[in-house]
Amino acid sequence: MKRAVYPGSFDPITNGHLDIITRASRLVDELVVAVMVNPSKRHLFTLEERQEMILEVCSGLDNVSVSTFSGLLVHYLDEVGVPIIIKGLRAISDFESEFQMAALNTTLDHKVETLFMMTAVKNAFLSSSMVRQIANLQGPVSDMVPDVVNRRLVERYGPPKPNNQGNTRRK
Ligand code: PNS
Repeated sequence: MKRAVYPGSFDPITNGHLDIITRASRLVDELVVAVMVNPSKRHLFTLEERQEMILEVCSGLDNVSVSTFSGLLVHYLDEVGVPIIIKGLRAISDFESEFQMAALNTTLDHKVETLFMMTAVKNAFLSSSMVRQIANLQGPVSDMVPDVVNRRLVERYGPPKPNNQGNTRRK
């Protein structure tokens, strides 16, 4: 049975993450979405909220489960007996840090392989941090995140402000 782990902070899950989850779930028998527990990092959503949102958006994907991990990823992989990490690659800017993490994870545990999937072009510049920033400044993020996430962001920050078409004066 082919199993893989898709790790991340998912604060919150975006359409980019969901695209990788959906495509990766077709390649393996079981995909575990592993939400990182990092008490030293300030998250917008609690671990429970992040998990709930992922569970809801993945409810139609039968071979996807959601779990949490803390500490080193390679320790978690060893615990669950899964040596394959799935990562999404967006723009070239992701490559350097992802290349470093993949190399370090394999150095820490030789069994571990990282498989990279290219994100869909429309999600190439999407990130949880940008979504948080735009929502915080009351911009629209409904095209960037699943509905459940958009609802939670609107609850948190209020509905998006309408665009005022710029401030150019016309005669
Ligand atoms: O969504 P993110 O924040 O980009 O996910 C990063 C994550 C959780 C995949 C990465 O930070 C990680 O694997 N953290 C666990 C700690 C660890 O194993 N560090 C060494 C990696 S080289």
